[in-house]
Amino acid sequence: MISEKIKNIFINEADIPSEFEIDPKTYDHYLVDGKIKKFKGKFHKAYSPVMVYDKNGKLEQKYIGEYPLMNEDEALSVLNAAVKAYDKGCGVWPTMSVEERIECVLKFVDEMKKRKPEIVKLIMWEIAKSYSDSEKEFDRTVAYINGTVEALKELDRKSSRFITSDVYALAKRSPLGVVLCMGPYNYPLNETFTTLIPALIMGNTIVFKPPKFGVILHSPLLEAFKDSFPPGVVNTVYGRGDEVITPIMKSGLVDVLAFIGSSRVSDILKKEHPKPHRMKSVLGLDAKNAAIILDDADIDLAVNECIDGALSFNGQRCTAIKMIFVHQNFQNVFIEKFVREIEKLKFGMPWEKDVKITPLPDLSRIKYLKGLIDDALSKGARVINDCGGTDNGTFLYPAVLYPVKNNMRIYSEEQFGPVIPFTYFNDIKEPLDYVINSNYGQQVSIFSKDPVQISRLTDVLVNQVSRVNLNSQCQRGPDDLPFTGRKDSAEQTLSISDSLRVFSIRTLFAFKATDYNKEIVKEILKKRSSKFISTDFIM
Ligand code: G3H
Repeated sequence: MISEKIKNIFINEADIPSEFEIDPKTYDHYLVDGKIKKFKGKFHKAYSPVMVYDKNGKLEQKYIGEYPLMNEDEALSVLNAAVKAYDKGCGVWPTMSVEERIECVLKFVDEMKKRKPEIVKLIMWEIAKSYSDSEKEFDRTVAYINGTVEALKELDRKSSRFITSDVYALAKRSPLGVVLCMGPYNYPLNETFTTLIPALIMGNTIVFKPPKFGVILHSPLLEAFKDSFPPGVVNTVYGRGDEVITPIMKSGLVDVLAFIGSSRVSDILKKEHPKPHRMKSVLGLDAKNAAIILDDADIDLAVNECIDGALSFNGQRCTAIKMIFVHQNFQNVFIEKFVREIEKLKFGMPWEKDVKITPLPDLSRIKYLKGLIDDALSKGARVINDCGGTDNGTFLYPAVLYPVKNNMRIYSEEQFGPVIPFTYFNDIKEPLDYVINSNYGQQVSIFSKDPVQISRLTDVLVNQVSRVNLNSQCQRGPDDLPFTGRKDSAEQTLSISDSLRVFSIRTLFAFKATDYNKEIVKEILKKRSSKFISTDFIM
């Protein structure tokens, strides 16, 4: 019985399988100016989304450790270390050759791999991502770093040839300065590193703030950062955004804001910079991706993709399917199958094999999602799956809402959780209007087998979103594909190779093609006296 299982979803602390036990620690170190410093100020107590019964039978979120809550002065000292290391572009790191920087990154990734078991376990505990998905997140990050190295080699090889005409030019890429990197809690390692690593390898220096849920898992990497990069190239800051990030932004010393989170927060951060025109922003923001099931779709395929799309990691993905439009001809059969498949999904603790639905970060998330459900119910929708929306502590069983109308909050708000709104349509104009008038513009999924319908729809949708998926859920990967969004969904394009461009600027060394100049440049190349004026082929 689903309801019984929800009631008993949490276990006694003593019954946590021994290989997944966690020993709460004080994580009292941070990395600044090449040193791992002991923090002496206030600490934040971190609790897992997972609740457990203590010895006295009290149900509480499992305490997993504490981490520093820095103040303004400490935050600014971290920023200053990055500013000093960049040294207005004259520092060791920004002037290092591409090959030398690649070596540092490869050393880092080797060190990182040695810490996999510890990091994976911490991802699982900090955000309740299933153990197998936590492992996947780690492996995907390692693959991303290795891919970045290969992409940079390729970029450098292509740009290490003189462009010849009346003017000879070597067009390469140079760093931008100090980058503030802030990742999201749903991919605390992977998405943070999808900006941090390309920013780093292009010669920028970094101030890195982990997300609120997902701080501790970065601790095992401090030593690896320290040992792999020159002092001040990577620095960590922890604490409340308004206490540590506001002064950093207000200093005007951040050259690039790399932020993955909400558009509301990104707007605040950008406005805090005294010279916003001077700061580049690389942003991955909100999304409300729709699935549109046409009247000729393969229903089983569409159901499976929509389940994965809406509920992987409890729907906590920016790319999740967050609104489903089903053609009226299919509404009953689709919904019936969808609900049946949801009932098969295993829910429970993140260490359980094949578990799909796990607890959410904290009680405020449950309150927010229940608020969305109640709002929809009060305006005429129904929860159509057994136990849908039943909660127990930090756990919320997926709720399928139907029919959803445009006056309900769930129609336009990004739920970022296991609440799935459905509606049906007669006329394709209805889902199209939804996408066209949405504040978001990340992706869409269409399900059909009719080449004519697919073509017509795609030709309109590509001007609304940044990826149209055919007969599959929305997703970011594979990571060598461009990932971006329109409207409130993103700024700049990320992919393994695009990111290298985003965190650098084209810079030329050029000279009139006179014999006089050619002789000088020949000598520079022969003596290898410049790192930039070099035509070396990186192996
Ligand atoms: O949360 C947003 C992520 O970029 C989504 O990535 O589609 O690979 O899960 P994913």
